[in-house]
Amino acid sequence: MSGIIIYRSSYGSTKQYADWLSEATGFPVYDQKTAAIPWDEAELIVLGCPIVANKAFLSAWIQKQWDRMRDKRVFLFTTSGADPATAPVDQWIAAGLPADLLSQIQCFPLPGRFEFDKLNGVHKLMLRIGAVVLRSDDIKHQMSHPVDGVSRDRLAPLIAAIQTEATTA
Ligand SMILES: Cc1cc2nc3c(=O)[nH]c(=O)nc-3n(C[C@H](O)[C@H](O)[C@H](O)COP(=O)(O)O)c2cc1C
Repeated sequence: MSGIIIYRSSYGSTKQYADWLSEATGFPVYDQKTAAIPWDEAELIVLGCPIVANKAFLSAWIQKQWDRMRDKRVFLFTTSGADPATAPVDQWIAAGLPADLLSQIQCFPLPGRFEFDKLNGVHKLMLRIGAVVLRSDDIKHQMSHPVDGVSRDRLAPLIAAIQTEATTA
């Protein structure tokens, strides 16, 4: 089955997973921000993006492009500062996408990498404002505690699901 991987990444963790996934599946990788995406060549689409402000960053874009994906097998993996083992990342993804569309996407929340000191000025400002406006102790905690949960092993369930789709097609 032909497939493509489309990702969006500011600091490299989502890109790292996309590249590992490409090695495992043989699917080519496209940067959502810059690449022309060959929609017609793929029967299976893997989307990858970070969680930003409690939503999958590509939520609006996925809805806009849905007509190009609706007849295909679609997977979405996310990266986040919060650990999906303890945080309700599935709910954050669901909050950004209509239910009928979400029902056609297999979602895989993965742990990402977050280090406040390495963010660009705009992102630092967004988080500082977010911490105050939302009175969020979580954001304040994240600002002073770097996390790095990026690990190749975490892709195993996604790779298995892709292989299942490929063999039952
Ligand atoms: C502006 C901004 C907002 C973020 N909001 C969240 C959030 O709401 N929840 C969360 O768990 N992580 C959040 N993060 C952390 C990112 O999801 C995490 O760092 C991710 O791994 C980044 O992916 P990338 O390295 O591909 O850019 C945020 C990061 C930035 C820069």
